[in-house]
Amino acid sequence: MTLTIRPFHLDDAPALLRLFRDTIRRVNCRDYAPEQVEAWASDEIDEAAWASRFLGRFVVVAEADGQIAGFAELEPNGHLDRVFVSADHQGQGIGHALLDAIEAEARRVGLQQLDADVSLTALPFFERRGFTTRSPQVVTLRGVEFRNVRMIRALDD
Ligand SMILES: CC(C)(COP(=O)(O)OP(=O)(O)OC[C@H]1O[C@@H](n2cnc3c(N)ncnc32)[C@H](O)[C@@H]1OP(=O)(O)O)[C@@H](O)C(=O)NCCC(=O)NCCS
Repeated sequence: MTLTIRPFHLDDAPALLRLFRDTIRRVNCRDYAPEQVEAWASDEIDEAAWASRFLGRFVVVAEADGQIAGFAELEPNGHLDRVFVSADHQGQGIGHALLDAIEAEARRVGLQQLDADVSLTALPFFERRGFTTRSPQVVTLRGVEFRNVRMIRALDD
């Protein structure tokens, strides 16, 4: 597999929304109940609003053999928001490559720390990346409650 990490373009957004929904339905469904999966990957997500969240953020897209296979985004304050790898490309090092790019950018702009609200599914991956748990929490999305974990990673190493 040839893996490329490249900057996000706004016209990637429809494909990334498809990937986001598909990964939640096929991967996160291991850790979340059907009603949680339905709310998280809802068909009612407004595509334009979803895409507009990328604006002003550092966003990288992974391509595996020329096909979109994942994405990750960093807010200017060091908050890592969406990090998703396609259900067909899990466990092939794409998450590592995305986080390498995010961490390099974070160091470049002088951030001291990253934080993320990590899904139960992604918890072992974030632990591998040096994030530590600050607090388990419950968030509400489209009226449905979800457990996730607030994690932080100092960038002083
Ligand atoms: C979390 C996620 C982005 C990781 O991406 P990935 O491409 O599968 O990760 P990688 O192949 O780079 O794996 C990185 C390491 O994490 C480990 N890992 C990944 N998922 C794991 C799991 N569920 N349990 C244990 N270890 C896991 C891998 O074994 C690998 O370990 P290594 O460093 O020893 O090789 C991906 O699983 C995903 O898209 N999950 C669903 C979406 C999600 O929950 N995103 C986060 C929202 S906060």
